[in-house]
Amino acid sequence: MVNPSEVDAVVLVGGLGTRLRPLTLSAPKPMLPTAGLPFLTHLLSCIADVGIEHVVLGTSFKAEVFESEFGDGSRLGLQIDYVVEGEPLGTGGGIANVASKLRHDTAVVFNGDVLSGCDLHELLDLHTAKGADVTMHLVRVGDPRAFGCVPTDSDGMVTAFLEKTQDPPTDQINAGCYVFKRSVIDKIPRGRALSVEREVFPGLLSDGRRVCGYVDATYWRDMGTPEDFVRGSADLVRGIAPSPALNGHRGESLVHDSASVAPGSLLIGGTVIGRGAEISAGARLDGAVIFDGVRVEAGAVIERSIIGAGARIGPRALIRDGVIGDGADIGARCQLLRGARVWPGVTLPDGGIRFSTDV
Ligand code: GTP
Repeated sequence: MVNPSEVDAVVLVGGLGTRLRPLTLSAPKPMLPTAGLPFLTHLLSCIADVGIEHVVLGTSFKAEVFESEFGDGSRLGLQIDYVVEGEPLGTGGGIANVASKLRHDTAVVFNGDVLSGCDLHELLDLHTAKGADVTMHLVRVGDPRAFGCVPTDSDGMVTAFLEKTQDPPTDQINAGCYVFKRSVIDKIPRGRALSVEREVFPGLLSDGRRVCGYVDATYWRDMGTPEDFVRGSADLVRGIAPSPALNGHRGESLVHDSASVAPGSLLIGGTVIGRGAEISAGARLDGAVIFDGVRVEAGAVIERSIIGAGARIGPRALIRDGVIGDGADIGARCQLLRGARVWPGVTLPDGGIRFSTDV
C-alpha cells in the first residue's frame, strides 16, 4: 500500500482555455465557478480527501489568481506550492518545470480541467505493484472516436498512443491523470515547450520504459468546451459527479445564499446560481451556470448555457447552448442558440437577434 502523504500532487493549470472563451479572457479555466466553487476546488478537495498533503500548481496564464484564491492551501488541508511558467511550456514542459518543488519519489499529475471519479488509492497501488515508471488513468468511454486512445496488453502495460480515428481499436482513452516516478520527471527535457501526451509518453514507450494503464469506467469529463463545462457543473450539482467539496449536496439546483430567486421561477437540470445573482419571476433555467452578480429578468429562458459575471439577460430572452461574456447585456426577447458566444460588455438591443421571424 502506498502512503498518500508520501506522494506529491502536481496540477497543470497553465493553459489558455481558448475553447471556453470569452469566459477565460478574465479567469483561467480551472478558476471558473463550477457548481458554485472555482473548478479547481473540486479537484483539490479530491486530492486532500485521499490523504495527499503536498500539491504543486504549474501555472502560467493569469498565474496570480491561483495564489490569491488558495494561498498556502491550509484551508483545504493541503500545502500548496506554485511554479510559474513565463511562457506556457505545454503539459510536458509544465511537469518538468515543477521538479525542484517535489518532495517525494512518486508524483500524481493531474490535468487541472478534468472532473473524475478515479480511485486514486487503487491507481497508486497498481503503480507500485507493477513497478511502473508511469501509470496512466485510462477511462473506458462510450464513443472513443473523439479522443486519442491507449491500448494495453494482457498484463495491463500500454502498447501505443493512437491519434483520433473513426475506427478506434479500444475504448480506453487517456484520462489526464498520471502517476510518475520522480526519476522519470527528472529526465523530461527542460526549458522548452513539449506535450506529455504527444512527446513524453511515446518517448517513454520507445525507450522501453514501463508504462502501465489503470483502466476503469468511472465518471469522467474534460471540462474544456462549453458543452462539457455545463454538463460537468450540472452533474456536480445533481450529485452525479463526485466532489468532497460539495459536502453531499445533491439536487436540481444550487443557489448561493446571497442570490435572490423570485417565486414563480423554475430552476432545474443542475442549475447553479452564483453570489448576488437575481432571478426574476417566470424565468426558467435548465442546466444553467449563472456566475456571480447576474440578473435574469422576468420570463427569460436559459438552457445548457453559461452566463458570465455581472451579465444581464433581458425579459423573455432565450439563451440555449450559449456562452454570455462577463457584463454583457442581452436585450428583451433576444434569442441566442447553438453555440452562440457573446463577448464581455457587449450590449444587444431588445429584439436585436432572433432565430424566428416574429418579434
Ligand atoms: P484550450 O486552449 O481550450 O485547448 O485549453 P487549455 O489551454 O487548458 O489546454 P488543454 O485543455 O489541452 O489543457 C489540459 C490541462 O493542462 C489544463 O488544465 C491546462 O490548464 C493545462 N495546460 C495546458 N497547457 C499548459 C501549459 O503550457 N503549462 C501548464 N502548466 N499547464 C498547461
